[in-house]
Amino acid sequence: MGIAAAERVESGIWRIRLGEPEELTPVRFRTAEPMSEALSALPGCELPFTEESINFRTSRRGCVLELPLVPGEQIYGFGLNLRAFNCTDTRKTIRVSDDQTGDAGDSHAPAPFYVSNKGYAVFVDTARYANFYCGNLSKAVSAGSTNNGSAAAAASTEELYKPRELASKMMVVDVPVAQGVDLYVFGGPAMQQAIQRYILFSGGGVLPPLWGLGVFYRAYTKSTADDVTSIAEDLRQNGIPCDVMGLEPGWQSAAYSCSFSWGKERWPDTQGFIDHMRGMGYQLNLWEHAFTHPSSPLFEPLKDHSGDHLVWGGLVPDFADAGARDTFCQYHQEQFVNNGISGFKLDECDNQPLSARPWSFPELSQFGSGLDGEQMHSLFGLLYQQVMNASLRKSNVRTYSKVRASHVLASPLPFALYSDAYNHRDFVRGILTSGFSGVLWSPEVRESESVEELYRRLQSSVLSAQTVINAWYLKSPPWRQIETEKNCNGEYMPGWEEVEQRCRRILQLRMRLIPYLYSSFAEYRYKGIPPFRALVVDYPDDPQTYNLDNEYLIGNSLLAAPVFAGETARTVYLPACGWYDFWTHSKYEGGREYEISVDQEHVPLFVRAGTILPLAEPLEYVGPDSVFDVACLVFGMSPSPTTLYDDDGVSLDYENGLQNAITLSWTPESGGSIASQGGFSGKSRYRVVDWKTIG
Ligand code: GAL
Repeated sequence: MGIAAAERVESGIWRIRLGEPEELTPVRFRTAEPMSEALSALPGCELPFTEESINFRTSRRGCVLELPLVPGEQIYGFGLNLRAFNCTDTRKTIRVSDDQTGDAGDSHAPAPFYVSNKGYAVFVDTARYANFYCGNLSKAVSAGSTNNGSAAAAASTEELYKPRELASKMMVVDVPVAQGVDLYVFGGPAMQQAIQRYILFSGGGVLPPLWGLGVFYRAYTKSTADDVTSIAEDLRQNGIPCDVMGLEPGWQSAAYSCSFSWGKERWPDTQGFIDHMRGMGYQLNLWEHAFTHPSSPLFEPLKDHSGDHLVWGGLVPDFADAGARDTFCQYHQEQFVNNGISGFKLDECDNQPLSARPWSFPELSQFGSGLDGEQMHSLFGLLYQQVMNASLRKSNVRTYSKVRASHVLASPLPFALYSDAYNHRDFVRGILTSGFSGVLWSPEVRESESVEELYRRLQSSVLSAQTVINAWYLKSPPWRQIETEKNCNGEYMPGWEEVEQRCRRILQLRMRLIPYLYSSFAEYRYKGIPPFRALVVDYPDDPQTYNLDNEYLIGNSLLAAPVFAGETARTVYLPACGWYDFWTHSKYEGGREYEISVDQEHVPLFVRAGTILPLAEPLEYVGPDSVFDVACLVFGMSPSPTTLYDDDGVSLDYENGLQNAITLSWTPESGGSIASQGGFSGKSRYRVVDWKTIG
């Protein structure tokens, strides 16, 4: 009933309209148009299932759709998931939440989107809290038969409840309120290409500025301008890499809700502070959330463009309303971006659906744009990112910022997600799960219970989408005082110098990888290949990868296997093809597991055989004129050429073709060669200083 014929909307992407969709859905608020050319360049594929194989019905509750699954099919996705990886045979509720303790879907960035290892993906275009039952529902059948379709009645309770395979598994999607939805189906032919199609459909991935791939430090929330300046100077004096200094709530005159104005007591000379910090090569990032305090200059102009409930006594701007968007955007551009701020941390834009005393606006809220509270919760983080990104884009500033809520079609937005949750294993899982659905995750470092834990957390952080030390409640850097309770007594722990040196070396790994990471992000931007992804994405037919939630691929050539406090060795599965240990250069055959021992300072990291890895001399920060001295490490005797992506690294000019692709090639006969092509005539950000062959 009510199922329209599949309509091809882009190469390898079909829309199937079921019933009568709501007007206000994620597609209606999309950030960018699909990248049609890049989509056409992918290999051809078929619609993975037809409209005839879908069941659809509506009721007063909303609508239900049933989509086919095949035996053995593995399902992933649904946005950022810290607690769950493989979603097969589970339920996921697509509800934005600050609580990450469960595995049923609640997340900072849930998405009504999944991808199958059978080489296709599905996006259900709804801002409702939809439930996805990924093959785990058993339907009752007519009297006298059991749910596996056999005719015999159960003879005992045990028999009745024993696990059964359904004759045919289904993905069942239960969408409240809506009397219909648009279903977008992405072909492959393989799993990675299905994800690429989804990201290209979203408008492509994000390309951070070069400095965004360095190190972020967020200073103690009650710092004064002098406190932050002295931390910044100290980091420079001690050679600790740092690109971005983040200011936490204490920079504002009111923070819960927000005044969006500097607190003059702690910040008597804001422009002097900004200029001094920028002079030392720091980018500045300001914490805020959207709820607007009565003392804010934005309060009056937003009054008629906000929801009908307050949060912390502040207005909830209706970011789906052009009036609110423009006002908020212009204010931030004029007050902050044009004065030297290059990023924001968008806090508190998730909800608290699992709390009896939620601080956020209720689902029954109404907004002038027509969204209700449920829809607004799904879209709030997305819309907020759009508005803030616009405030920077208008001044040709490329940012890489932070946000605590997102949803579907988010990949073009230059924000990485973070959380107040802090379990290290969950943080690593987040690196993998975010990669299925076009969001980026930052497993930030705060306090640790031991020095060893600090190293392990830092290692995961430098091998993630955004490296952040979030010292918002720590007066000193975590390598000087690791334990929370001792953080405010002003004394450093004994032996901190040695710990600091080790942390510096761990952070330098990040700085060495920037050219490689930048090029991997360019693949995300233009081809939709997630820079951080689970092994199953590239090896969907290898069952060893199906539940592997603690190691992952970075770009085309690296495999990271984080270690947790208390471990001195771990099992690493290396998929088919040869691999080299990044540190020792030992060679490994793929397609099997290894027990890898590691000391505290190193994290298992592997390089795919046949790689030319551009590895930089570590900079302390990436300034507008910084050039990376790059050594090209050739792993194996017949490497594929590698592309180094080059542009000015800071502005949006690359969007107008001011970019180059530098091809690095190597053969045993002629050694290494470099060829550059493209429209960027500025100074290259790289200088190749050496070629080294390994193996
Ligand atoms: C939390 C946020 C933290 C920190 C803190 C400051 O909501 O997750 O990272 O910014 O606010 O109050």
